Amino acid sequence: MPVHEDLRKIMSSFRRDSRPMTSLISGLSLLGSLYADAREVGDAAIRRKHGIRLLAQAATIGAWTFSIFKGTALQQPSVDRDYTDNLMSMLFAEPGKAYECPAWLKRAMELLLIVHLDHELNCSTNVLRCIASAQGDPYSSAAGAAAALYGPLHGGANEAVLKMLRTIGTPDRVPEFVENVKAGKGGRLMGFGHRVYKSYDPRAKVIRGLVHEVLKQSGKDSPLLQVALALEAYGINDEYFIQRKLYPNVDFYSGIAYEAFGLPVEMFTVMFAVPRAIGWMAHFEEHYKDADQKISRPRQLYIGPQERHPAK
Ligand SMILES: CC(C)(COP(=O)(O)OP(=O)(O)OC[C@H]1O[C@@H](n2cnc3c(N)ncnc32)[C@H](O)[C@@H]1OP(=O)(O)O)[C@@H](O)C(=O)NCCC(=O)NCCS
Repeated sequence: MPVHEDLRKIMSSFRRDSRPMTSLISGLSLLGSLYADAREVGDAAIRRKHGIRLLAQAATIGAWTFSIFKGTALQQPSVDRDYTDNLMSMLFAEPGKAYECPAWLKRAMELLLIVHLDHELNCSTNVLRCIASAQGDPYSSAAGAAAALYGPLHGGANEAVLKMLRTIGTPDRVPEFVENVKAGKGGRLMGFGHRVYKSYDPRAKVIRGLVHEVLKQSGKDSPLLQVALALEAYGINDEYFIQRKLYPNVDFYSGIAYEAFGLPVEMFTVMFAVPRAIGWMAHFEEHYKDADQKISRPRQLYIGPQERHPAK
């Protein structure tokens, strides 16, 4: 399904030095301005039409953010390719050259897409459901969710992990780095810990295996993988992390995987958002099918002064 030509034109004018995630957030929200009936969320057929359009077009818009970043033309998807083939081709095809994705690489990308599809009521999905609860349209809801995903404590953690691994540099510097974190000097250990998982995040295990496979098949080496493995081994055997139940999460190895694919750090959170759009739209639909859902409105406990006196 091609993305509206007007959006391709608008996004072609985005600055090359803009962060790909900001281009994605803008692109998703601009989709809403192209389809006036998207606001009719009470109509199941209209809602479904736009939900499916959004989850399909998020892949194209995600790939376009990489084209903007590289300064290359924004390609429309091809009807002859499936979802993953299209995504790989729009991301990696060189101008004027035919692109054929090797089967093992496509499978690796599919695994990455699958482990990122959905993950119950995390921060961005909660934002999406909050906007949906006010009867916002799917495009505005997904743009809001993507903005939440951008933060380094959420989907932006994969980028932060890679930066942290680069800062550490070599496996022998892991103990010093971790001791600094424990002493409150080096920020948090990015890619460790989770609001819900208090054990090893199963997705991290899948991605760790996938990284090994991609590196083996492509004949590449990743010095950062050696640092990550040393960091994991140190962290999971350290009393500080054991006591607090902090283990590698989905973002710990995903950055190394994206890098092995040839993507720069700026693209990592976009690669998380693209498949997550599918989960977001499933939540959007579920919200509307649940008659008990009301507008989201958390209560707040006021703990300020009971009485104020004007300064004399
Ligand atoms: C994901 C995260 C926000 C969850 O936080 P949380 O469950 O609310 O945990 P808290 O912030 O209450 O932290 C509990 C304790 O563990 C420590 N802690 C939590 N994550 C830590 C980390 N990554 N590195 C070091 N210490 C950490 C906190 O300092 C706190 O210690 P204290 O009890 O001595 O004060 C948090 O683990 C984190 O910031 N991780 C790094 C970012 C990341 O990888 N995010 C991606 C999540 S999928």
